[in-house]
Amino acid sequence: MAANAPIGVFDSGIGGLSVLRHIRACLPQEALLYFSDAHFAPYGGRPERQIEQRVLAIGALLAAHPVKALVVACNTATAAAIAALRRAYPALIVVGVEPGLKPAAAASTTGVVGVLATEATLASARFARLHETLSSATGVTFLPMACPGLALRIEQDQMYLPESIALLRRFVLPLLEQGADTLVLGCTHYPFVQQQIAAIVQDNAQRNVTIIDTGAAVARQLASQLAMQGLLRVEPAPSVDGLSSGSAADLERAFSRLLGLTVRVTQTEI
Ligand code: DGL
Repeated sequence: MAANAPIGVFDSGIGGLSVLRHIRACLPQEALLYFSDAHFAPYGGRPERQIEQRVLAIGALLAAHPVKALVVACNTATAAAIAALRRAYPALIVVGVEPGLKPAAAASTTGVVGVLATEATLASARFARLHETLSSATGVTFLPMACPGLALRIEQDQMYLPESIALLRRFVLPLLEQGADTLVLGCTHYPFVQQQIAAIVQDNAQRNVTIIDTGAAVARQLASQLAMQGLLRVEPAPSVDGLSSGSAADLERAFSRLLGLTVRVTQTEI
């Protein structure tokens, strides 16, 4: 695999852009190819089997490009399908995202941590294993909170609506009431409402609350895997290209609105 090939990054929609921004900061010399599965978003309420089929189809598209690494910038897709993706592409670097329970346990002083994520992530066997391992290793109580409808509202740029904030409050307040002093953003869409979450915390928490986003850690892990395999790009060629199974114009607008980037997006047929 050539070091000059791009890195493929994908999500059900725009959530993966919260990871892509850390990859750009950590690996500024690299070319990135972002895929949004907007036509099938959100993944959070879908059965695992269906998510796995989509992930394998996206993997095939990006691997054929070809890319030198695949970043599954989606907790839901990682939980449902990263094992199948690694089996399908054993020679490719495949990096996933999972809720940051470990850094949250280290940050918490009350020993109570809220975990905001999609229904599918929280229902997965992968999350159950992570939850059990970290609970018994740290003694921390993790409070999983499924957030149906939240990723879609972020995807559709509706977080300025009062009903979107009311929905977010319904997810965050019960966690604060149960003593959480740390909140895990267990979906890559949620960093885009971190300010709104911080405002809810500010108005309602009796104590300081830490918000955990694993985007920077994922970028560091990708960088170290590329370095280990001698695949870091030597001649800088920073670029970002976009692909979408939905509207190309929507993803171009999201790049501009969320990251301040002008990116050419092509609609794909998969
Ligand atoms: N951004 C995704 C995640 O990290 C999923 C959102 C969705 O499609 O439901 O879980």
